[in-house]
Amino acid sequence: MTTPKRYLVTSALPYANGLKHVGHLAGAYIPADIYVRYLRARKRDVVFVCGSDEHGTAIPIQATREGTTPQAIIDKYHAAMKQDFEDLDMSFDIYHRTSDPLHHETAQEFFTYLNDRQELEVKETEQYFDESANTFLADRYIKGTCPNCGSDRAFGDQCENCGRTLSPDELINPVSTLSGKAPIKKKTSHWYLPLGKHEAFLREWILQDHKDDWRATVIGQCKSWIDGGLQSRAVTRDLDWGIKVPLKDAAGKVLYVWFDAPIGYISATKQWAIDHEKDWKPYWYDKDTQLVHFVGKDNIVFHCIIFPVMLKLHGNILPANVPANEFLNLEGDKMSTSRNWKLDMRDYINDFVKKENGGGQCVDMLRYYLTQIAPETKDSEFMWKGFQDAVNSELVSIFGNFVNRSWVLMHKLCGGKVPVFHHQLLDDNDQVLIKEIETSKVKIENLIEQYKFREALYEVIDLSRKGNQYMQKKEPWILAKNLNDHAQALIDNCLHVCLQLCANLAILINPFLPNTARTMTKMMKVVDKMLDWENAGKLKLLSVGYSLREPQLLFRKIEDAEITEQVEKLKANAQSPQTTQPMEAPTPQHSMISPEIQFDDFAKIDLRTGIITAAEKVEKADKLLQLEVDLGFEKRTIVSGIALHYSPETLVGRQVTVVANLAPRKMRGIISQGMILMAEDAAGKLHFINPENTIAPGSKVS
Ligand code: 2FM
Ligand code: ZN
Repeated sequence: MTTPKRYLVTSALPYANGLKHVGHLAGAYIPADIYVRYLRARKRDVVFVCGSDEHGTAIPIQATREGTTPQAIIDKYHAAMKQDFEDLDMSFDIYHRTSDPLHHETAQEFFTYLNDRQELEVKETEQYFDESANTFLADRYIKGTCPNCGSDRAFGDQCENCGRTLSPDELINPVSTLSGKAPIKKKTSHWYLPLGKHEAFLREWILQDHKDDWRATVIGQCKSWIDGGLQSRAVTRDLDWGIKVPLKDAAGKVLYVWFDAPIGYISATKQWAIDHEKDWKPYWYDKDTQLVHFVGKDNIVFHCIIFPVMLKLHGNILPANVPANEFLNLEGDKMSTSRNWKLDMRDYINDFVKKENGGGQCVDMLRYYLTQIAPETKDSEFMWKGFQDAVNSELVSIFGNFVNRSWVLMHKLCGGKVPVFHHQLLDDNDQVLIKEIETSKVKIENLIEQYKFREALYEVIDLSRKGNQYMQKKEPWILAKNLNDHAQALIDNCLHVCLQLCANLAILINPFLPNTARTMTKMMKVVDKMLDWENAGKLKLLSVGYSLREPQLLFRKIEDAEITEQVEKLKANAQSPQTTQPMEAPTPQHSMISPEIQFDDFAKIDLRTGIITAAEKVEKADKLLQLEVDLGFEKRTIVSGIALHYSPETLVGRQVTVVANLAPRKMRGIISQGMILMAEDAAGKLHFINPENTIAPGSKVS
């Protein structure tokens, strides 16, 4: 494979609506940073861009929650996320933001370019509109009952209970979260990207061109999207937070956040070019640029299907790879902001990095563990005990121990200088290790170029393990007991090889653990240039007779108490989950009173008392019960969403109030002939509305 002329590497732009956790770090940031540091060490032309994603409904929702403005939210979280990334040594060339005017301009130009060339379709549809708030409702602002599981925690985009992706039209009894009222349907026009037209291109580009070098998980997701039928996707929204649609007749319309966010990679590159007096264009137009997007698996479709179609239509290059990661769980459970089951980057920074002198080693410990468990092919698990084991048994006992022993023995047995190597004494052990150094370098670079960072890191640690084994075989401390010229020569040879191996390890570990590499260059009294990748694989890095500094501790041990404290903290946090969820629309404490009606309107509702005569669960719907209700004059089947509040066996014989003239509705395949009245308390518990005493079924309620 020929080497590309330049690289443009991107990490997913995080939403500026809250702090990010270590799952994000492991998914889209650390792997990208390793890749970029490696490319830089190879002196490749690379630009690494990231920034905050500051549009979309997530931002105004968070603003409502925090009682502030969207602008204040993005300013706060943009600064916080930028700082967290800096504290964890993410080496972005630029950390930009999508609220920047340059980005607005870039995204608008992109839209105009596509629209002018008739690559977008305009369609009129009916969408939910909140009359009292006088606004169209974004999917997240509509709440209702899930058609799949019957939960009332379903939103217009997804059910929080069963996780099913929904569209607002699928919700049963939709309600606006802004006013608590039922929304109406209103006509609106939007611009759509007709993905279906590009199916042949996508099939060829993803499924044929890339089947060998892309991750199977990524190809699999793309294939199922394409096979499932590519629908046109709206690229505009009726919202007042976002980038205005740059057309005269588009008041109140903004670009959909997923249209503008990936264009953020381009505007970030432009800003970087302005800052460094460079030309940004080759990075997005020249076929000799390798564009690589690092993302989590929930972003695959946007980076492998939608954005590539946009790029193709706009005349840009396409990504060479999208090495998406699966998800990282925490201590046996899915990370969740709403349940407060997560480890924020900020928490780790405060509890480890900021607590020590030389927090750099703590940064590297986290980078190490997150790479070692990186969810490259399947979901994986962050366990505090696993973190401790990785640090203590690998970084401390293998890598750190080898470097430390080499240094201590060199000071003790070789006068603090790099000893000479006596070629006439070269033996099999030396030869094997020297060969290992050469082959490891090649293996590691091949793995990194294939985005297999976990395996690459394993090879680095394994090489240090081999160093320990080598030293164990040579036993210079035993030779030192009967010191003579020959013994000294053997000691010199052993430590010469060990020190040269340490220098190699510094180069090889550098993309993964940059702080460790830097400490090692200090110990070796060499400049950072020595870390250039081309220097690895050789035994000539340190000159004979060069005096080296005293060893420094590369990694400290993680104590049991620290682990216990973290696990307890996690559990305690989960006991007091955040009352609000970043991606969930706020629920008003009291829903607003509905518009006034006349008595005649009310009189249309025929309310009757009834007695439940049978009750059973509805299959595959946790919230629904199928009830048989005796209304005196007839028996009705009524499906009611009360299964989480009442078990079926407690209901038979209970008196209820029924809306008896409600048009029948099919729910989960059952025709429901009426509705039971329930009152909901502040905790969300449902209570029956009953007459004070038991009265004959069928009695009129008014
Ligand atoms: O999923 C997310 O967090 C999105 N903000 C990622 C956007 S990536 C890119 F398109 F900007
Ligand atoms: Zn559901």
